[in-house]
Amino acid sequence: MASTTPSTPADVRTARLGEIAAAAGTPCYVYDAGVIRAAYRTLDDAFDGYPHAIHYALKANSSLAVVRLLHSLGSHADANSLGEVDVALRCGFRPDQIVFTGVGKSAGEIDRAVSLGLLAINVESPGELDRIDQRAVAQNVTAPVALRVNPDIDAKSHPHISTGLKSNKFGVPIDEAPALFREMAARRGLQPVGAHVHIGSQITTLEPLEKAAQSVVALAHALRGEGIELQHLDMGGGLGISYDGSPVADPVAYVRALVGATRGSGLKVAIEPGRVLVGPAGVLLTTVVDVKQFPGAKRFVVVDAGMTELMRPALYNAYHRIEPLVHRDGDATIVDIVGPICESTDAYARDRAFPPVRVDDLLMVADVGAYGAAMGHTYLRRPLPPEIMLDGDQWRIIRRRQTLDELLSLEE
Ligand SMILES: Cc1ncc(COP(=O)(O)O)c(C=O)c1O
Repeated sequence: MASTTPSTPADVRTARLGEIAAAAGTPCYVYDAGVIRAAYRTLDDAFDGYPHAIHYALKANSSLAVVRLLHSLGSHADANSLGEVDVALRCGFRPDQIVFTGVGKSAGEIDRAVSLGLLAINVESPGELDRIDQRAVAQNVTAPVALRVNPDIDAKSHPHISTGLKSNKFGVPIDEAPALFREMAARRGLQPVGAHVHIGSQITTLEPLEKAAQSVVALAHALRGEGIELQHLDMGGGLGISYDGSPVADPVAYVRALVGATRGSGLKVAIEPGRVLVGPAGVLLTTVVDVKQFPGAKRFVVVDAGMTELMRPALYNAYHRIEPLVHRDGDATIVDIVGPICESTDAYARDRAFPPVRVDDLLMVADVGAYGAAMGHTYLRRPLPPEIMLDGDQWRIIRRRQTLDELLSLEE
């Protein structure tokens, strides 16, 4: 028997999600604005007056309404492509509130980034340093730059989202940094304003983040000794969230660790959080389209969302909590929850104990606000799903479902 009468706050929320799914269809993303606001305030307050800037990493979720919400809270922006720079500008960020990172910036990207006068372009290599200088000289401007250093620290997260090891493609080895800062200081088109480090994402312990912070603080001290005075230390993003209930580093302790490492230098701390700000705010609603089991084989719950809507399980074997929105009596069984895409990696959960569900039941995939919709794609000609912002009692569609005509509109 199914029960749906709302009585507790959780039931009210479930009823609201059911209402949204009925109106917008599934699959669809729903973000809770209150959760984003609370996460931002927690980080911001934790600085306790120490000079800082929170540059929201748009790569986690660059939907305009989400980016505008972060802007309204006082956030600054971290862009990982020129597209994200432009999204940030359209959402109201000033150029001097935007840092631009990217391991392979094209000539066009460099040219435009220089012309915009961003807070800093994070430089990834000696070659890129040279190219930025040339473009700045050609435009007769001085480009503020920060050097992205690779401190060779193991973030102890998934290998696909670790970026701070020597074997990763990001940044320059920290030993090379002093010489490159001298080079930047000597160039007519460059003004070194900061040092940048980002060692990976979904980092669940403080130790690697603190070590990375200490390494750039030591670098800034050494540079000061040579007369190169920086303005900010950009500690990157990377703080993880608890997808499966296991403990993760506390955001307040994280900020305190960064401030503790930096205080002696007096430099402003910049951070580039993505996941921790928006990850827990999002759920993906999906409908069961089939349930099947043959003798001696697995039980499959097939849903209408797949790796096109949410890549993380297929890409990183990532875990997401999944819950039915309707409670049915009966024992949990072991199931694979899979999408409709013709790829074996298209599974949201494998061998998971799951309550009984039937075709047409609604499921909720939790903690998908970061790297969910932002990584969505249209494989199998599946149009992009809608996104909804829930704010208190109100909800609104912030991106409607793409139509097939729109998807095909660029083609001959
Ligand atoms: C340069 C840079 N900054 C910030 C972030 C945001 O990371 P997270 O979402 O883990 O906070 C990323 C993502 O990996 C990144 O590449």
